[in-house]
Amino acid sequence: MNKKIVAYTSNYGSTRRYAQWIAEELSCPLFEKKAIHPQDLSDSQTIIYGGGLYAGGVNGINFITRNWRSLSDKNVVLFTCGLADPKDPANVSNIRSSLTKSLSAKMLAHIKIFHLRGGIDYPQLNFIHRSMMAMLRRMLLKKDARDLSREDRQLLDTYGKYIDLTDRESIQPLTAYVRSSTDDV
Ligand SMILES: Cc1cc2nc3c(=O)[nH]c(=O)nc-3n(C[C@H](O)[C@H](O)[C@H](O)COP(=O)(O)O)c2cc1C
Repeated sequence: MNKKIVAYTSNYGSTRRYAQWIAEELSCPLFEKKAIHPQDLSDSQTIIYGGGLYAGGVNGINFITRNWRSLSDKNVVLFTCGLADPKDPANVSNIRSSLTKSLSAKMLAHIKIFHLRGGIDYPQLNFIHRSMMAMLRRMLLKKDARDLSREDRQLLDTYGKYIDLTDRESIQPLTAYVRSSTDDV
């Protein structure tokens, strides 16, 4: 039996929700990144890590770099959770290119990556995150409307509100991959 675990970092709950769905679907344990013990990693053959996207970076991505020695001979799956639509190849390309700043080419070649859509609840944001979003909005408002991407327009339309784009169905490619790459298909 191929032992699997799901680990995550989540500020406002969207990544946690996906991590819970994935752990449920694969019947495997779920850990918040900070609660994970080295033994949990060495006992597992498949490690799935999820983090929210913040200014292009993946929250808690040092989980992978710090534990690379234990992860390099395992099946490692990374999922990102962000507002940008992963159906748009430009968004995926942006996320991948920002991942090259945190992960080496060797790591990127070894890790299977999936992109899922999260949500945002402006009234819940902490001061720093609220300020970052306000700055981004001011920047977008200065742009010519014709230069705004679909994501930019969505941000302006939903600014200050609650938006939830999480979708349980969207984990299917990830869980199917894990099942097909392990011996308990
Ligand atoms: C300050 C800030 C920056 C963000 N930057 C991005 C981003 O670069 N790309 C993206 O797709 N989503 C971005 N988001 C949206 C988050 O990724 C989204 O809210 C996600 O669901 C957060 O997951 P979490 O609550 O599990 O941490 C940002 C949100 C905030 C508050």
